Order: sequence, then C-alpha cells, then structure tokens
Amino acid sequence: MNINNWYAACIAGELSDKPQQVTILGADLVFFRDDTGAAYCLSDLCIHRGASLSIGECKNGTIVCPQHGWNYNSEGKCTLIPAGSKNPAKPPKRARVPSYPVQEKYGLLFVFLGDMAEDERPEIPDIMPEYDTGDWHIGIIPRSKDISYMRMHENYNDPCHVHYVHEFAAWLPKGVTIIDHENADTHVKAFHASWNAKGQYSEHIGLMMEYNVISSVSRNTNYQPDYPYQIVTAYVTPVDELNSQIFMIILMAKETTKTFGLDGKELRGVGAEEHQMLVDMTRDQVMDEDYTVLKTTRPRLSAQFTEELLVETDRTLAQVRKITQEYAVKAGEIDTVALAALANNHIHVIPCPGHKADPKNWVHKTVPLKNSGIRDELKAVS
Ligand code: FES
Ligand SMILES: [Fe+2]
Repeated sequence: MNINNWYAACIAGELSDKPQQVTILGADLVFFRDDTGAAYCLSDLCIHRGASLSIGECKNGTIVCPQHGWNYNSEGKCTLIPAGSKNPAKPPKRARVPSYPVQEKYGLLFVFLGDMAEDERPEIPDIMPEYDTGDWHIGIIPRSKDISYMRMHENYNDPCHVHYVHEFAAWLPKGVTIIDHENADTHVKAFHASWNAKGQYSEHIGLMMEYNVISSVSRNTNYQPDYPYQIVTAYVTPVDELNSQIFMIILMAKETTKTFGLDGKELRGVGAEEHQMLVDMTRDQVMDEDYTVLKTTRPRLSAQFTEELLVETDRTLAQVRKITQEYAVKAGEIDTVALAALANNHIHVIPCPGHKADPKNWVHKTVPLKNSGIRDELKAVS
C-alpha cells in the first residue's frame, strides 16, 4: 500500500460537523467539517492516551477527545487541555496529531496520505471532465469488499472477463483485441476493441479502459452501439491490504446531450429513470458478479508475473500492476509485515506534511516503510 497519494475517503455531501471515522491504509482517520463547512482530516488517535477522536464531538472548529476533553484544531494541534495541566491553554509542542490535506472533487472527499509538501504533491487527475458539464446523469455507489484494491483495479482493466462474468454482456461474441495502448509513468489507457453482435471485428466497438495510480482510479468508457453511452469510474481505496472501499460513479449522457461514437455516429442518451435503473443494476448485480469471482482469486494480493500465464489482452492490467509498483518505490510503500509485528504494542500513523516540515516533536511514530531498515531493527530486538 502506497503512501503519498490521494485516496477517496467519503461522499462529500455526507460529511458534517459530526466526526466520521474512515480507515485507509490500515490507519484510522477522523474527518469533520468546521463552522464554515471546510473539511479536515486528522489521525483518529488522541496523543494523550490513545482514545478515538471520532467518538468525540466538534466544537468551535475543534474536535474534542471523548476521554479527557483535549481540543484539537483543524491543523491537528492541541489547543486546550482542560484538566491535568497547569496551563490548560498552553499545551506542549508535542501535543499534536497528524493532519492531512483534503480536497473535494466529483462529489467525493479525497485525502492526501503522505508527507509531501504542497509543491511536490501530485494533483487529483481530471479523469471525468464530463462530470461538471451538466450534460450527464450522475450516480455514486459506495461499496466495501474484502478484496485487495489492486485486484479490483486489475479487474476493472480486464476486458475479457466482461463477457463471462456479467450477465448483461453474456450474449456478445467473446473476441477482444487491444488497440491504441498509451503508457505513462502514472497512467495507462487502452482501447479494447470487441467483436460486434454479428461476430465481426470492429475498431469502433468496445471498451476504453484507463487507470491512474494517482487517486487510485479506473475509468471504463463503453462504446457499444446497442447500449447508451456510459462512463463507469471506480475509485478504489485500500482500507487495508485485503479490504477495499469502492466509490463507483456512473455517468450516462442525457437525452438532450449530443455524444458521438468512435465511428462518428451519434450515440443514444437516456432519461433519469433509465440511468437510475443502470445504477441499481450495477450496485445490486454487476458488482456482485465481479465479487463472486474475485473472492476466489488467489493469491489475494497481486500475483507475481512469473506465476501467471498472461496473454495479449492482459497487457493493460499488467501495466496497472507495474506502474503501481513503480509508484511505490518513488512515493513509499508501507511495510505491512513489520507493521503487523508491532501493532499490538505501538501506535503508528501515516506521515503528514507536518512531519516533513518538522520531523521532531511527535508522540506517535510513523508507519514502517519497505526498504527503510525496519526489518533489520525487528530482527535485532527479537
Ligand atoms: S485520551 Fe484523549 S484526552 Fe485523554
Ligand atoms: Fe466486471
């Protein structure tokens, strides 16, 4: 699991001044809004005695710990220790919890989990420029699954499973060929042309599949002449190594919107009712069809390339895996084995930009990263 990345945390409209706990990368976080409506994210563990801030309450732009009432402001600084200190309004410098940058986009609230300063941070990709135009129906489906986030993305970029796993596409011919493959450091995009209903190959029919490691997102654009034009975008957030939170966004062009297929012919738009039907079907059927197979897939994390027999049409999903691994080297990857060995006796937090600006004066240690020497330290003490 990579740090220094944006992750979709919750539906923006559902966050209020009531603290909300969200677990990402195995770390408990608390989200809340202040009196002006601005959203914030802090580590959910009080540095006094480890209580969960998310079961406390928000007051005057601060979050109040439920156990002894310490107040934390939006920057994570403790501003008040009501009892047990001679100077309640002057907490020590170490009285602070990590605070993470947040941003709203596409109806979701994203959090940047890492210590990169603002000028080093990647931007959340504009993967859905259609979203804000007013020309599309929009539906958001939140679902959690006990599947690794990489397995989910590999599936969203696997064109051949669609005709087997999904009932809605079972009648289509099974042929798929990759054309127009575009690889970059942080994204991959490829058009997977498929056979038409008469069993003939067509360069204008099929699925455009796209993945961006920044914000952990896959977008599928469906060009089928008999289906309405639809865009399915899935943000997949690692709750931990084996569990994912999915935010799937389904866009379908409105009847009044002019859209065109790859052959230049006009595509059909839909009314709100048809869009809602597709959102319901995706939530109640399509996602479960994927899950039925994914929960049986082994290993539960991504496999080694040498332990699978990949074919030509697996090129996109292989690239998804490769660029995520490459991003891990640059951005930092949590050493989950070391973390598990320490979990019962220690608190570890994801580093935040404040750690880079001022590495000292923190109470909780940051999570061990791969290649950081932590395994040697563990061996030395065992
Ligand atoms: S544990 Fe939070 S104030 Fe004591
Ligand atoms: Fe699927």
